[in-house]
Amino acid sequence: MNGFSNVVLVDHPLVQHKLTLLRKKDQPTTDFRRLVSEVALLLAYEVTRDLPLETVEIETPLERMTAPILAGKKLCFVSILRAGNGILDGMLDLVPSARVGHIGLYRDPQTLVPVEYYLKLPDDIGERLAVVVDPMLATGHSAAAAISRLKQAGARKIRFVCLLAAPEGVEVLAEHHPDVEIFTASVDRQLDSHGYIRPGLGDAGDRLFGTK
Ligand code: URA
Repeated sequence: MNGFSNVVLVDHPLVQHKLTLLRKKDQPTTDFRRLVSEVALLLAYEVTRDLPLETVEIETPLERMTAPILAGKKLCFVSILRAGNGILDGMLDLVPSARVGHIGLYRDPQTLVPVEYYLKLPDDIGERLAVVVDPMLATGHSAAAAISRLKQAGARKIRFVCLLAAPEGVEVLAEHHPDVEIFTASVDRQLDSHGYIRPGLGDAGDRLFGTK
């Protein structure tokens, strides 16, 4: 129990250990990127925990058996550009057959409303579990806008995965999309006046891509 009914806190010791390493300010870009991939893979493991199975007949080297495989159309990861791309690789290592969608949003400087500049999704998004990925759930406005857009495009089952969340972002998603569960390694203390998660890990996009 973590105090938020829409949050699944992934408290596996490996996830928590790697998250601590990610938070350290002197972590070099190469190590930061590798750690993000490793945590993303473990988050993908949790977000797919209840995928439906069906059974098939197979032959082992010794005998025939019925064995479980994933049933039907599987999932689509949807990356919120640009930082979302940094956590896609680890997830695709675990689920290489997943489809991948992208959504690009920027914040209008006058109205502060998120504006879409790019969208590419598979046509059959409505038949897949859509897993929206962005390393940081900060204000929650981009995530809420991206999820609204996915719903417009036909997505019916949506989950959100991030490394870190701010309580403010969790509340915004709960208000706009109470049906969407958030899988995260931590809900940190707060959002600061510059929109950074505290204590956080800094700017995830800059740290992933070595920009600044
Ligand atoms: N985006 C980031 O990359 N870091 C934050 O702390 C908040 C939003």
